[in-house]
Amino acid sequence: MSEIELEKKRVFSAIQPSGMLTLGNYLGALKNWKDMQNDYDCLFSVADLHAITVRQEPAKLRQQVYTTAALLLAIGLQPQESIIFIQSHVSAHSQLAWLLSCYTQFGELSRMTQFKDKSQKHADNVNAGLFSYPSLMAADILLYHSDLVPVGADQKQHIEITRDIATRFNNIYGDVFTIPEPYIRKIGARVMSLQEPTKKMSKSDENVNAWVAILDSPEDIMRKFKRAMTDSDSNVCVGEGRDGVNNLIGIYSAITHRTADQVAAEFEGKGYGDFKKAVGEAVVEELRPVREKYEYYIKDKKELEAIYKIGAEKAEKIANRTLGKAMKKIGFVI
Ligand code: TRP
Repeated sequence: MSEIELEKKRVFSAIQPSGMLTLGNYLGALKNWKDMQNDYDCLFSVADLHAITVRQEPAKLRQQVYTTAALLLAIGLQPQESIIFIQSHVSAHSQLAWLLSCYTQFGELSRMTQFKDKSQKHADNVNAGLFSYPSLMAADILLYHSDLVPVGADQKQHIEITRDIATRFNNIYGDVFTIPEPYIRKIGARVMSLQEPTKKMSKSDENVNAWVAILDSPEDIMRKFKRAMTDSDSNVCVGEGRDGVNNLIGIYSAITHRTADQVAAEFEGKGYGDFKKAVGEAVVEELRPVREKYEYYIKDKKELEAIYKIGAEKAEKIANRTLGKAMKKIGFVI
């Protein structure tokens, strides 16, 4: 390994295999992952262990893990550069999660907004895993001495609790874990519903026009943007309370790497019609290669399998070392 490589910071992130991913997932997290590959030493995982905190149908879960793994490759993650693997294939995640759950307090878990939301949504199944979800997430991150964790804004609280758990552990046993930082890009961090732009874009929205799936056809994408909610004004510029327009500007900025001012200048004197069409087209072109690569990987599961197996082997080497160290510190007989 060259010296430059040794100096690279470590990045870890994961995504749940929850079926269709949205433009929100893409701009909020996945696009950052791709962009970080060259500058960081990256690991990316499909968080299947986290997925079972809500009830899953076995065949569907299996299919969604494949879909998500294929999507990670489709968005441009490179198995030669990054370690791409499935969380449950590296048993150290479950093992360290148990250990860390003994260093995580009931009170702090009770304050997690995701727990509060999900326990309301799945009131018939408020299981212990849903509650201790952040301990598993802390294990994911800490096993790899991750410096940076690129996530969407909704996961920030989970990174903060990871930092607290790691600090607590280090204070007792010495320097075992690296304290990670969240990495949240402002632009695109929160993509809102195209129909009710005060709400986050979500694939569980009953109105299909409210959200764009990464694998949507160009026709569907164009239709959804043409129908996107704006306001009675006609200026393309950011403004307080102009949620619909702000959201479209955010999406366009994130894809074209332009500032909101540059976008406003580009559409000065033009109406919403032109603007919505331009946003739709930008999204279509951004997602076109993703859809094409996805088709390729999902057709040939052999190649996909080979990639995630190699990923797990590489991840396991790092993870087992950290797990062993933590166990030794706690006082287990090794
Ligand atoms: N909880 C994250 C989400 O739902 C997914 C996740 C699991 C994750 N483990 C992680 C993200 C570790 C970052 C780091 O989006």
